[in-house]
Amino acid sequence: MEDLKAQIDLQKLPKHIAVIMDGNGRWAKKHGQPRVFGHRNGVQSVREATEAAAELGVEYMTLYAFSTENWGRPAAEVNALMTLLVQTIRKEIATMNKNNIRLMAIGDLEKLPAKSHKALLEGIESTKNNTRMTLVLALNYSAKWEIMKAVRNLAQDAVEGKIKPEDISEATFDAALSTKGIPHPELLIRTSGEQRISNFLLWQIAYAELAFLPIFWPEFRRQHLYQAIIDYQNRERRFGKTSDQIMNTD
Ligand code: FPP
Repeated sequence: MEDLKAQIDLQKLPKHIAVIMDGNGRWAKKHGQPRVFGHRNGVQSVREATEAAAELGVEYMTLYAFSTENWGRPAAEVNALMTLLVQTIRKEIATMNKNNIRLMAIGDLEKLPAKSHKALLEGIESTKNNTRMTLVLALNYSAKWEIMKAVRNLAQDAVEGKIKPEDISEATFDAALSTKGIPHPELLIRTSGEQRISNFLLWQIAYAELAFLPIFWPEFRRQHLYQAIIDYQNRERRFGKTSDQIMNTD
């Protein structure tokens, strides 16, 4: 594993890694256990991913923890996920403070159960001055919801005469999103073998490298993060330019 870590070029780390943590339910089924067992074991993967990313020097990591579509799951599973979230935040805050990690959240947070919302806000408040890495939890999040909200806010500003339609640029649109101030992810990882984006950070991942890993989320360990970063670094990021143009600027 140290071999793998040594292959990472620390000068070319992605600043922001986004993760779709998928496959908890299937992993549990594989082990003959209820779905909640998968979510519980997924917490250890969250810990490993966060620690490994922070140790390397990644500045932001965004985890898709609960999508707006997830409300459609059986009530018992939704409740279990919300309880797990509260427990995990309460339990991990001290470790996050010790490791200088800041917690943030994106999504329609006010619609979370009161207890989850409260634990989340407490976690955010308690870690707000930490500077090593920011862990962003996407909770009750959907990219289409986020984009609609930004569009409405900008339209409202235009109606009120605060901005003109022609003032709207990529930069002002960025600033209207819940990820305002956060660099766009250069690497998006999805576990479980599914190759979909599932309404996650649609605007922000315009140029992200995509890594689809054939493992379930509870199986995710630091070496998977290392390997995904190595693969990312070995790919040529061209942003629509030619190889020669990239070589000349490097
Ligand atoms: C996807 O697996 C996973 C989720 C919807 C929840 C992720 C939550 C955690 C890992 C635990 C809590 C997280 C934090 C940040 C404290 P799935 O249930 O969709 O799996 P399946 O596709 O196999 O059914």
